[in-house]
Amino acid sequence: MKPKLPPAAKKLFIKTYGCQMNVYDSDRMADALAPHGYEPTADIGDADLVVLNTCHIREKASEKVFSELGRLKELRDERRTGGEDIMIGVAGCVAQAEGEEIVRRSPVVDLVFGPQSYHRLPELIARAGQGTVIDTEFPEEDKFEHLPAAAREVTIKRGLTAFLTVQEGCDKFCSFCVVPYTRGAEVSRPVEQVLAEARGLLAAGVMELTLLGQNVNAYHGLDARGRSVGLGELCFRLAEIPGLERLRYTTSHPLDMTDELIEAHRDLEKLMPYLHLPVQSGSDRILRAMRRRHTRATYMNVTKRILNARSDLALSGDFIVGFPGETEADFAETLSIAAEVGYASAFTFKYSTRPGTPGATMDDQVPEAIKSERLARLNDQIMSQTRAFAKSCEGRVLPVLIEKHGRNSGQVGGRSPYLQAVHMEGPERLIGTIQPVEIVKAGNNSLLGKIVTIAEPNSVSLLESHASVA
Ligand code: 5AD
Ligand code: SF4
Repeated sequence: MKPKLPPAAKKLFIKTYGCQMNVYDSDRMADALAPHGYEPTADIGDADLVVLNTCHIREKASEKVFSELGRLKELRDERRTGGEDIMIGVAGCVAQAEGEEIVRRSPVVDLVFGPQSYHRLPELIARAGQGTVIDTEFPEEDKFEHLPAAAREVTIKRGLTAFLTVQEGCDKFCSFCVVPYTRGAEVSRPVEQVLAEARGLLAAGVMELTLLGQNVNAYHGLDARGRSVGLGELCFRLAEIPGLERLRYTTSHPLDMTDELIEAHRDLEKLMPYLHLPVQSGSDRILRAMRRRHTRATYMNVTKRILNARSDLALSGDFIVGFPGETEADFAETLSIAAEVGYASAFTFKYSTRPGTPGATMDDQVPEAIKSERLARLNDQIMSQTRAFAKSCEGRVLPVLIEKHGRNSGQVGGRSPYLQAVHMEGPERLIGTIQPVEIVKAGNNSLLGKIVTIAEPNSVSLLESHASVA
């Protein structure tokens, strides 16, 4: 059943760039606008309001926004020729960092608003009708208290897995990173607010939650008694909520892996044994220049503690190559830490100078050609590690969350605990269940599996709720 809308529904198109938090934020913007008659559309040509939810983490990501705005100007001109109009908004981290500069470069923009203003969106749109609006404040009020929850039908449509922001911002100030400037200081949502949002998602049939934060394991939300609660305890509390089958969190800083969080990995079967724990570089000299506050040895020690607690855990990471001053010997240490940790997968980036960060003015910037060459070598190594990890899954029986129909009829597809795509023979009714699947063959981008014995779902109503929107 579709949500009830006021008669003159307007069409909303949101284009999301960057990280998972932006994906979450885009959904929340859509939720904020739904009661005001805005209905999402997948066709930009059909939209009354286009929002670009932008990313500022690297230069390329930022520049994409301005080329998209060029295309939107053409769309707006066409519309106006036909006597109609379209409103154009820029949200997210580019909006926060560039503010008025966006309107100066692209006068087509009606509305610029930062990540802390999403709850004000309906009001900002109303004001933008009278002239350009720029809102990049960090307001006193808690935006989450003002953002409406998604309608149950909308949550069901979004699928079996959901993101949930628990923490925003960062106080670490790594010398390459814009996040502390665009997302601001670390703020944790109160425990009860997180639990309430989780209950709503789970009651609508979500089975897997990924807790989000720029520095998620620095989470320290207050509970009802005003006590500060860490991410480990939050995981224990969430795991008690009926309907939660799988729990993940991202992105973490190595220094914030507390004993309690490691205990959660040891004791909670529902906490997936797959952890994104960026190290950025394997060289102590570069880690110091990056102001990461940890050495190679302290990072290795953290991974050992986690693996002692949960031996089937696999790690993924982030790496930056070509940070100012990085020599071939430093880079060799990055290759060697990647191998030593044995990452199952990793995101790799060429260092991108971000205005306003300490890295931008450091001496010894690395030439582009060297960055590209190092990136290619690191990518080759990571790719072969990912393939080796997939191969090591052959013969293992992994619990797979079945999410959708497969490519061929009679097939279904899902995800392993390690976020690998798994395809297997199986009836459609298994969508929305977790099945024990023997991994038969590791392909390039997915695994082929065979369901060992069909575990019948214990919640028929959950299956029904998903069947109704299939
Ligand atoms: N240049 C390249 N990569 C960056 N990252 C953050 N800032 C930069 C930058 N200036 C990468 C880091 C981080 C991930 C989200 O993006 O690896 O973990
Ligand atoms: Fe950026 Fe992460 Fe460092 Fe914070 S901890 S400054 S988000 S890289």
